[in-house]
Amino acid sequence: MIKTIIDKLYKYNCLEKEEIIYLLKNLDEKSREYLINKAYSTRLKSYGKTVFLRGLIEVTNFCTKTCLYCGIRAENTNADRYRLTKEEIISSCENGYNLGYKTFVLQGGEDPFFTDEFLVELITEIKYKFPECAVTLSLGEKSYESYKKLYDAGADRYLLRHETANPKLYSSLHPKMSFENRITCLKNLKKIGYQVGAGFLIGLPNQTIEDLAMDLLFLKNLKPHMVGIGPFIPQKDTPLRNEKGGDSYTTITLLSIIRLLLPDVLLPATTALGTIDSTGREKAFKAGANVIMPNLSPFECRAKYSLYDGKVFTDNESAEEKRKIEEKIKNAGFEPVMVRGDNITWKRI
Ligand code: 5AD
Repeated sequence: MIKTIIDKLYKYNCLEKEEIIYLLKNLDEKSREYLINKAYSTRLKSYGKTVFLRGLIEVTNFCTKTCLYCGIRAENTNADRYRLTKEEIISSCENGYNLGYKTFVLQGGEDPFFTDEFLVELITEIKYKFPECAVTLSLGEKSYESYKKLYDAGADRYLLRHETANPKLYSSLHPKMSFENRITCLKNLKKIGYQVGAGFLIGLPNQTIEDLAMDLLFLKNLKPHMVGIGPFIPQKDTPLRNEKGGDSYTTITLLSIIRLLLPDVLLPATTALGTIDSTGREKAFKAGANVIMPNLSPFECRAKYSLYDGKVFTDNESAEEKRKIEEKIKNAGFEPVMVRGDNITWKRI
């Protein structure tokens, strides 16, 4: 039965909800290995052995939102807040460019200081200085008009995890936010023409196997170009500080199912996974992940961008970090590459 389900997933890249639930509830060591091998051959067909490197710049840890799990939530008075200036962001890009990066991911909390006007200027300047590079934004929920302005300024991609596809769980974790608006944002981003990234957290309090099945089907239905998933890791200054958090085993299993549901998707091995399992990211590549996002933020800020406890960040040079990550990728049998690495189905409109 379980082999039949995995074979169907491999061949047709789809499953019914009951089949996903059955799969998640009944995977044993052997069938999990079978699943992971199928995900591996699928990634070979779409992206070969390449792993794309993206330079991550954490531009601000100010945030107006109060997501219960997140260390930079507005109500965390212990967070040491910072925001980079336009010059600091450009200089981080420059540093990354000199190391060979062809994608810059600008990530931050929902910080009203970063107005459309500021961001348009910033993106325009980055694209002027580094025309062959892609700009990815990860700055939360905005209006259609704002997203459009940033796209027209040259932004190529936008990451906005849906966090969980169960509307009830979503509203219990995101005070004063709306699941419906989250989905509207994702649809608007797609309509505008961005390469869009969705994704969810694993191991949230009260999250069930059924919820994870909903997340997988949500992704199948949305067809994003990128998917970021990772274990929820408790952060000491948040209401969820005493919760258990997600595990590496489940995360890797889910990565392999996502690779099979969306064969062409860009799928990062996330920092959160590397935090709870020191070899988690290597395992992730074998299960279908094909992106990694080394940190390019100024060193003084890295500890402050503390979404969860124990985040792996280095205070060595970006050049040194890049070299180490490349070595890890090679040792796992993959090939680190620094091209733009667009989703193979995407063209700018
Ligand atoms: N553990 C793991 N991931 C987290 N994120 C925020 N807080 C945590 C946490 N405590 C993730 C969210 C967000 C992304 C930028 O970081 O999914 O979308």
